[in-house]
Amino acid sequence: MNPPFSGVFNDLDRVLLDRDQIQCRVDEMAEQIQAAHANQTITVVALMDGALFFVADLVRRIDLPIRLITLSASSYHGGTESSGSVDVSWNRLPDLKGQHLLLLDDILDTGRTLSLLRSRLLEAKPASLQIGVLLSKRRTRVAEVPVDYVGFEIDDEFVVGYGMDYQARFRNLPCIGVLEPSSPEAA
Ligand code: IMP
Ligand code: MG
Repeated sequence: MNPPFSGVFNDLDRVLLDRDQIQCRVDEMAEQIQAAHANQTITVVALMDGALFFVADLVRRIDLPIRLITLSASSYHGGTESSGSVDVSWNRLPDLKGQHLLLLDDILDTGRTLSLLRSRLLEAKPASLQIGVLLSKRRTRVAEVPVDYVGFEIDDEFVVGYGMDYQARFRNLPCIGVLEPSSPEAA
């Protein structure tokens, strides 16, 4: 990886997905989503902060009218293990009745976050609800969630970059990597 990322790069054990792989896959996902929503307005519900770059890249490739709603959701509270409780900024949710919703998150891990969001969004009586994630971890889910679009299936490892953080760092990496276990940042 080129500067200015050389220092951060030392904290990574390895790069899992490079910038080009991510961008190509996001292109394909945008095509799929566009084809599934012909002649519709999509209301994208994006979970911040992790999905920030994924959603920004994805929605700019979709040639359809899009309403964008962001909600803050957090379940990790600083570490590399899901805490089990999910905090969501529900106060930002407008009326979604009759809309075509597309719920987007960076990564599907235990499933708690998306299953909570899904039940809550369905209560709003949307016309349809689809779910998309850039990454899905191969692991047993605590809560099963039907996902319509998956960018990449990955092993059950803690990843950072392209929006995903460890203690608020690494979000700005253009690639997705696994943190070096011996790195002071991962300690
Ligand atoms: P879940 O509720 O366990 O499915 O967790 C989903 C949320 O946890 C995602 O929105 C991410 O913000 C965060 N998360 C899960 N795995 C990782 C990871 O490997 N790196 C960074 N964040 C993660
Ligand atoms: Mg998240």
